[in-house]
Order: sequence, then structure tokens, then C-alpha cells
Amino acid sequence: MSAEQANVRSAAHRSDDRIIIFDTTLRDGEQSPGASMTVSEKLRIALLLEEMGVDIIEAGFAIASEGDFRAVNEVAKQVRNSVVCSLARASLADIDRAAEALQPAAQKRIHTFIATSPLHMQFKLQMTPEAVHEAVIDSVTRARSHTDDVEWSCEDGSRSEHDFLCRCIESAIAAGATTINIPDTVGYAYPDEFADLIRMIRNRVPNIDKAVISVHCHNDLGLGVANSLRAIQAGARQVECTINGIGERAGNAAMEEIVMAIRTRPDLLPQTTRIVTQHITRASRLVSAITGFAVQPNKAIVGANAFAHEAGIHQDGMLKHAGTYEIMRPEDVGLVRSNLVMGKHSGRHAFKKKLAELGYEIGDNALAEAFARFKALADKKKEIFDEDLIALIDDEIQATDQRIKVVELEVQCGSRPKSFARIALEIDGAQQRAEAEGDGPVDATFHAIQKLVPHNARLALFQIHAVTEGTDAQAEVTVRLEEHGKTVNGQGAETDTILASARAYVMALNKLLVKREKTAPAALSA
Ligand code: KIV
Ligand code: ZN
Repeated sequence: MSAEQANVRSAAHRSDDRIIIFDTTLRDGEQSPGASMTVSEKLRIALLLEEMGVDIIEAGFAIASEGDFRAVNEVAKQVRNSVVCSLARASLADIDRAAEALQPAAQKRIHTFIATSPLHMQFKLQMTPEAVHEAVIDSVTRARSHTDDVEWSCEDGSRSEHDFLCRCIESAIAAGATTINIPDTVGYAYPDEFADLIRMIRNRVPNIDKAVISVHCHNDLGLGVANSLRAIQAGARQVECTINGIGERAGNAAMEEIVMAIRTRPDLLPQTTRIVTQHITRASRLVSAITGFAVQPNKAIVGANAFAHEAGIHQDGMLKHAGTYEIMRPEDVGLVRSNLVMGKHSGRHAFKKKLAELGYEIGDNALAEAFARFKALADKKKEIFDEDLIALIDDEIQATDQRIKVVELEVQCGSRPKSFARIALEIDGAQQRAEAEGDGPVDATFHAIQKLVPHNARLALFQIHAVTEGTDAQAEVTVRLEEHGKTVNGQGAETDTILASARAYVMALNKLLVKREKTAPAALSA
């Protein structure tokens, strides 16, 4: 990027009426216990984030694993209209690796961080404040040698001592940081307290006008979005967030909630974002399908009930004037109310249209497979509800590009003492078969899978949920596996519960293969 472009961008960033949306679904979001994404899954999400108008996409933590490096690199190659960012600890090797991964990006940012709270410095980093301060200068200087766009974060910023925090921020800006991010790493802050912290920084750091203030709020007390909004009112101009609020522990501030809160209350927040809100539902569905993390029905903005009115008095009000109970229009988040009923005779065109209405846009190959599965489902099930299609498409999205796939399953079960399963899997393109006995059909099926994919992961959760009513309903099965402290979720949906279980188990194994590659980076080696 030329110096002129950099100036234009930083001027835009400083503009008082625009909030920069920094999405970290692919980095902090992927750190959610149980989540893991392949390179191609990350790329799909990144391209949708770009289409949505996200300003900065944090694509990963390049040094964390080969997979993270490739994901950052691939996103950097393909995304053109958003800045692509990689996280790096305050170590020169981390920063150089981030720069290497970002090399093909049209617009790149290195995001480097180090903890500044007494607790983190003493116990986690085992570094003196002086050493941390030096690391801030060295890391930002190194990052600036690779790009003009450098973000520095004070991890656990909300629990840091003010004098030390201000000194580190001033030095980071003097060394070339163009964005200063204040994380509430453990979700501890209260909204007014966090706003005061932002005001304090604006008042006390002499060169703060040379950088954009960003916030990164975790949701441990359910205050991630509230803290972010109060921080904007106090002068922050970048917000870090994730789709569906996924992230470490209780997650991060949810992008859809922040964006819609800004849009819905211009009287309190006169700023705007660049987000095309009509893509919100689509993004939520894609992230949920890829991670296997269901969105709770009452979740703000993207939950299945977010725009549903059941109480008679509400329905009556809605019929008279939608504004009585609706503060946002469903179409503004890309939710289309439709009467298009799907059944056995629906064609491919109607199917595609229906998926688009539900917020899905899938490629031609996935569409062909999904349509074939829809037809098979319509043969077994008289009425196909939206929930059926959502379960089917989520399953299809998860299954795309996976190393292990279920090809065939046959089970024998009933009152005999042992059940029996025979399964065919495709593993890295080659078909393999196995059979096994077990206590019940699920146990037998899982044993057969284990013969083909030997592993020691513990089955931490096995859950079945009927997608709709009726005995012909699809079963949506969730399987959680745990191996050496790492957890992964897999989901599968089928009218046959045992087949759905096999798909869910195999999906979890696919995710485990991705997760095994990741070495959890140590706190720091400055
Ligand atoms: O929560 C946090 O402090 C982070 C930093 C790396 C920004 O994710
Ligand atoms: Zn975080």
C-alpha cells in the first residue's frame, strides 16, 4: 500500500461518524471450545465477510499451525476489499510469520499483542513491566517494518494499571501502531467503567490522536455488546466482534448485535458501519453450519424466534402496525418471510430460491448434492419445513471438503444381545469398509468407525434432537469428542437416527484432524 493510500485510510478510520468493523470470527471465534475450521471453510466465511462490507478480517494466528498459516495466506490471496489481518504475539518470529502469510494481501494488517495487567505479567508472562514495555516497542517496530497498518493490543487491558497502560500505548503509537486495541479479555468490565477507561486513555495519552481506538470485549458476564457500545460513545472507533458472538469461553461481542444496535438507535449512536445488514442471516447460518454451533432460538437478531410473535396480543398489535412490537424489519437482516412450501414435486429452481430466502447461497456442486438429498427426504417425508432444509443444508455444508465421509451404513439391532454395524467410509479419497458389534446400534456404528479411523478421543456428548414433529422427522445428532483437552463438535442430520449419528461422529473426527494440527501457542516468548 502506498503512503498516500495509508493516509487516506487512516483519515477514514479517524472519521468521527464511521465505526470500523474488525471481524475475528476466524481467529478468536475459532478459539471457541469445540470449534475448528478447515482452510476452505475459513475462506468461504472470509469471502462472505468481504461481501458484507467488513473492514478488517482477522483470518488467523499465522504461527499457531500450518493450517492457520495457510488460512491467512489463502484469505490474503483472495480477499480484495477488506483488510486481511493476522495475529502475532510480541515475538519477532510471530510477526515475521504473520507478514509472510499476509504477503499476497491487497491490504494487510499485523495485529500484535502482549498482556499489560499485573496478574498476566507476573504469573503468565513472568516478565517485569519494563521488559513488557520494551517488548511493545520492539514488536510494533518489527511489525511496522512489514506494513504501515499495525494494530497493538494490551491483553487484559481492562485490568491493567492506568499509568503503565498509558505509557505502553504512547510507546506503541510512537513506534508506529496505527490502531490501539483495548481488550476486556476476561469479560470483567462494566459498561460505564469501560467507557471511563476509553475516556481516560483519550485524555491522558498525548499522541492518541495518531491512532484509532479499538475495543475487543469478551462476554463472560453477558456484557460484551453493551461494553462495546458504551466504548463507541466514549470515542472508540473500531469494534472487534464475531458472527453469532462465538469465541473463547462465553464468546466475543456479536457483530450482528453491534451493527443492528448502531443502525436501530441513531439517536444514541449517530455513527454508521459499512456492513450490508441484509447478509447477516446468511453469515450467521454459514458460521453455525461450519462450526456446528447451533444458534439459540432467542438469540438477538439471528435466533429463530428473533422476529417471531406468538402471544395473541402481540400478533394483534403487529397486524395493526408492525412498529408496535418490531424495532427492526426482518428483511433488514436478510430474513425473508415466505409462503413457498417445499415438497416432492418442487423443482431445482424453487429449491434454490427457497435456500436463498433462508439465507443460504451455495455453489453449484453443493447445490446439486443438496437437491438430491432434498428429493430423497421428500420421498420419505410428506411435509418439508424450513427447519428440515436448514438441517439438511447445514449438514451438507459441513460435509463439503472433508477428509472422511460416510458412504454407506447397514445396522442390525433389536432385542438380540448385540447390535451389528457394517460401514463404508471414504478416507482421503479411498473407500474402506469395517464391521463391528456393540451395545445398541449407535455403539456398534461408532466401533466400526473407530476401526477405520483409530483414535483415543473420548465421547464427551451425544445428543439427539428431532428437527420437526412426527415420527418421520429428521434427527439432528451432535457428537462432541475430547482428546488431550481439545474438544470438537460434529453434527449430522438424517431421517435415520443411526445414519445421522454416524455422520455426526465422522464430522467430529474431521474436525479433530484439523485441531490436532494446532499447537496452542504459549503465552509469549518476547
Ligand atoms: O481477548 C483478547 O485479549 C484477545 C487479544 C489477542 C486481542 O483476543
Ligand atoms: Zn479475545
